[in-house]
Order: sequence, then C-alpha cells, then structure tokens
Amino acid sequence: MKRLSGNWPDYLLDEIRARADIVEVISDYVVLSKKGRNYLGLCPFHHEKTPSFTVAPDKQMFYCFGCQTGGNVFTFLTKKENISFGEAVKFLAEKTGVNLPQVELDPQEQAKQKQLERIAQINKASKDFYHEYLLSKPEAQAARDYLARRGINHKVLEEFQLGFAPEGWSGLTSFLQARGFSLKEMADAGVVTPKEDGGGYDRFRNRIIFPIVNVRGQVIGFGGRVLDDSLPKYLNTPETPFFSKRHNLYGIDLAHKNMREKGETLVVEGYMDVIAAHQSGFDNAVASLGTALTRDQGKLILRYTQKVVLAYDSDGAGVSAAFKGAEILRALGCNVKILTVPAGKDPDEFLRSHRPEEFALLTENAPGIVPYKLAHLTRERPTANINAKVEIVNSLADDLLKTESLIERGGYIQLIAKTLGITEEVIYAELERISSKARKTRVFPDKSRLNSHTNNGLAHSEFGNPGRESDVDAALKIVSSQVLRAENLLLRLMLDEPQVIALVHENLGWDGFRDPVHSKALVLIKEMWLKGNWDPATLAAMVNDQELESFFARLALADPGVSSPLKAAGDCIKVIKNDQIKEKINKLQEQARLMQNNGDVENAMKLLQQINQLIRQPASDLPR
Ligand code: GTP
Ligand code: MN
Repeated sequence: MKRLSGNWPDYLLDEIRARADIVEVISDYVVLSKKGRNYLGLCPFHHEKTPSFTVAPDKQMFYCFGCQTGGNVFTFLTKKENISFGEAVKFLAEKTGVNLPQVELDPQEQAKQKQLERIAQINKASKDFYHEYLLSKPEAQAARDYLARRGINHKVLEEFQLGFAPEGWSGLTSFLQARGFSLKEMADAGVVTPKEDGGGYDRFRNRIIFPIVNVRGQVIGFGGRVLDDSLPKYLNTPETPFFSKRHNLYGIDLAHKNMREKGETLVVEGYMDVIAAHQSGFDNAVASLGTALTRDQGKLILRYTQKVVLAYDSDGAGVSAAFKGAEILRALGCNVKILTVPAGKDPDEFLRSHRPEEFALLTENAPGIVPYKLAHLTRERPTANINAKVEIVNSLADDLLKTESLIERGGYIQLIAKTLGITEEVIYAELERISSKARKTRVFPDKSRLNSHTNNGLAHSEFGNPGRESDVDAALKIVSSQVLRAENLLLRLMLDEPQVIALVHENLGWDGFRDPVHSKALVLIKEMWLKGNWDPATLAAMVNDQELESFFARLALADPGVSSPLKAAGDCIKVIKNDQIKEKINKLQEQARLMQNNGDVENAMKLLQQINQLIRQPASDLPR
C-alpha cells in the first residue's frame, strides 16, 4: 500500500499529530464549540448555516456531515491552505518543534527545490532593490510624483512595497550579480531577459513596480507600469516555475485575513484598483491580474470567503470578464454580485473622486447574476417585442434554476415580470417546461454515483441526503440498504472493538462486501489487524484515497448507537451472510435454468437440491 506519508516515518507523523492538537489547529480557521466529546462548527469547506463540521479530539479527526469532507490534521491543512501533504507536515513540525530528518529527495527533485529557493531569494532581493530605489534615489523623483498624482499615500505604498525599476539595462542585474546570483537564475526568476550571447538585461526598466506576493508572503512575481502613455502599459513577470498568473491574485497577501473577517471578497481588474481600494478601507480587495478570473483563482478566494463582489470595468471587455468570472465563481459555490461603477470608471477612478461610503453603497446594492444579466439584456434590445421577452426569459432560465434560495429566485422572477411587463405565472410555467425537458433528456445517472458510498441506504438515513436521489439510487436503496447499513455498522464497530474484528475474521471472512468503499475499508482493517499493529487512529492517515479517507473519518465520528457491540456485530454478520446466501441462490438458480434449457435436467436437479439446502439453512449456524 502506498502511504500518503511519503518520506516520513510513521512515528514522526504520530509525534506531530499528538503535539499539534487538531482542535487547536482547526480553531485557527473555524469557531468551534464543545459538544459532548466532540467539537462542532460551521464547515469551512462548504456554505452552511447550521454546524455539521465535527472535530473529534480523541480520534484526532474531523468530518463534515454536510459535505462529507474529512480527514486528519494534515489533510485539513492541505485542503484549507491548498498545500501538499508534505508541506502540511513541515508546517506542523515547525509549529510543534518536531525535528524532521532531511528528506532524501531524488536528485532531480532536489535540483528543482533548490531552483525554487533561489528564485524566491532573487524575487525578494529584487523587490527590496526596486522599493529602495523608489524611496530614496533622485532618479525616482518622476515615479514618486506619478504615484502622488495618482493619490497613493505613503502607507499603502509601504504596505504594497511598491518600487521603481530605473532606466538602463543593468541596474538590477548588477545588483543581483554582486549578491552572488547567476544570470541564468535571474532569467529563471523572470527579472532578467536572457540574450543569445549568454548575457541578459533588466526586464523591467523605467516602470513603477508592483510586487505580487502570495498568501505565504513570498514574492512570486512583478507587474511594472510605464509612467506615461507608452505601450505596453503593464509588463508582468513571465510564467516561471514559481509564478503562475492563473493561480494567484494580486493583493491576496494583504487581503486574505480581511476577506475572512468581512466574509466577502472584492475582486477588481487592476493593480491600481486594488491599491486604491485598500487605501479607502476596502482591504478585502484583490485583482485577477488582467485575465478573466480563473477557476484556480476562484478556489483561492473560496478558501476565505463564499461571498464575492466583482467590480470590473464597465467596458465591453469588462462586462464579458464579469460574466465569465461570475459563472466560474457560481459553479464553485460562491455567492456572486456584480458591481458596475458608474460613468465607465474603474474602481480606482471612482474612489479618487468619491467618498468611500459611496463605493460601499455600490457594493451593497450590487445585483446578483440574474438582475445583472437582465439589465444587460434589456439594454441591448427593445423588450416590447413578444419574441424578445420569450428569449430573455429563456436566456435567464438556467440562472434562475441555479439560484438555490427560493426566496431569492422568487424575487428575481418578480423583477423579471415587472421589467418585461409579463406575469410571474408565465415565467414559472416557462421554468417548469424548461426544467422538465431537461429532466427528460437526462438519460441515465452517472455510473460512479451507483458505487458511491454516500448514496447508500445508511448515508441517506443517518447522515442526511446530500442531494436529490435518482431513480437508480432509490432502487439500489430498496435492494440492499439493509445490507449496506450492516456493512457500515460492522466497520464502525470494528474500529471500536478489536473483538468484533476477530468475530468477522472467524465468522464472515474478508470478502463479499457489496459496497466498493466498504470493501476497501475492510481490506485495510484486515491488513493492519493481521499484522498485529492495530491502531484505528492512524487508519485514515494510511489511506492514499480521498474517498476512503473521508469515509474513515465519517465512520469514526458517527455514533454507532448500540449498547452491545458484539451482539450488534453478530446481527450485522447475519444480515450480510443472508445476503450472500441469497446472492448464491440467485446464481445457482440462474445456472439451473440454463441447464434445464440445454436439456441437462439431471444436473439441474442437483443444483436445485443444493439450493433447497441453502434455503433451509439459517445463516447464523452456517459453517465457514
Ligand atoms: P491604470 O491605467 O494604471 O489605472 O491601470 P488599470 O488597472 O486601470 O488598467 P486596465 O484597466 O487597462 O487593465 C487592468 C489590468 O490589466 C492591469 O492592472 C494589468 O494587470 C492588466 N493589463 C493592462 N494592460 C496591460 C498590458 O499592456 N499588458 C499586460 N500584461 N497586462 C495589462
Ligand atoms: Mn485604472
């Protein structure tokens, strides 16, 4: 079995896990309150109003009964901070003072690690160089004047560590060379443009410099703006192993705490918009770095907030970027509003001529996707025309159906009815028609859902139904919900009580579970138990399978609700064995039928005898 722990020995992971109390770690992200043995809070991985996120200190695990995310303290950090398992281990080791041995990386990996470290150092040194230059050099007077003209005060200039790249080809190159960095490394970092003869020159010249810093405070790249109207207006660090525009947001280092605190993120287009926003107190502003918002950027936002206000330019490009961004964010589960700054201004321009309260008002009143699109559609074409009305309702239908809150949806429908001068009933009827058409065209549900343990009978009855169940799910539930429930409970009891494992070993054996996830879990328990190092608390950590890990976490946190584990286990085993017998009988009957059809009556009769025996024999006293 491949272990998620990778290069670290188990005793170290155990040591870290023990020292970094999971409740304490998670408390940095979630407000937890004690309930019985466990702690309860609002899930940081999905939007919810009633807490279903559970942390069990005795098991050192967490699990959300709403979105089925679960795991241990390491996996929590990988998910919440978007870091690798190894990074989570390192982070907690540092925090808890556990010494990690130098990990043996393969040489290629080692070289890459080293290169990344050098790039980080170069970026940091370059940022300091540009910043110092802006603050103190006479040659940067024009840049200081420019920033002053744009209303940037010293405080934000420092916060954002703005800088200036001097004219000339080698100011930064020489500076970095003197500090022992090679031209190749500078080119790797993207601050130097390599020449064919092996030399290189400063990439950024005579530009205001905006360092781009990630959540962890590392300078990952730069944007540089000219002081006049020359082109290109902005120049960015090229994509490097360290810098990927689509994964980052400008300002996230300063904004992320405020995003979490305010419960809302303001997404703007440009560097200057972010800075102006922060200067006016909108310190939850980030920019998508000139691209339309990407899914990765959306996920980054979602680590901190679910509510997002998009404040893009109101020109054509801005509107289509807003549409696209809103769509991406909504697909990720964000609650999106779209702010249009009046008179074609961008947020920076608006804030320079208006009070912050006026911008705050725009934020508060920003429409959701439906009203935003409606306004846009009705502006584009006359709505007196009946065809136009039909088309508008049709093009909003999808958005309306995706609006989960019925109150919100109702409000939108009211607005559309009023705007188009039609009745709400017509819109409801149209939605009904469209959604029933969509239902009919859905031929068959996803096969994977059939296999998913979250859709078995137990999950429905015990943990709430996460979504609308399909017909196939329902059928499956009738066929085998009792068996699946028994499998699940049996696994749960095995975690609590090694005697139950022995019981299973002796009376049931290790194969024949119906649910694939249950089967995988059983194999894992078997391996650990047979090896003689039974320790249920480390089970989830041994799994290299998201689904299985979540399953274990959920299993461990569910209350089995039985008074006598051994007796309950016996009942479960009976249910499962009976099911296995039924299955066997079905197979034999099928075989017998085939034989009869082929004229082999004699053998068919033999089979029928076997079947009769099976039917008469109660499961409880079947020999193994
Ligand atoms: P200011 O003119 O300084 O106020 O900039 P702005 O942010 O208002 O610029 P604009 O709305 O034109 O562009 C928004 C963002 O797109 C910028 O902040 C940049 O990130 C990006 N961008 C704009 N122009 C360029 C360009 O010429 N090259 C690149 N790479 N990015 C650009
Ligand atoms: Mn601007």
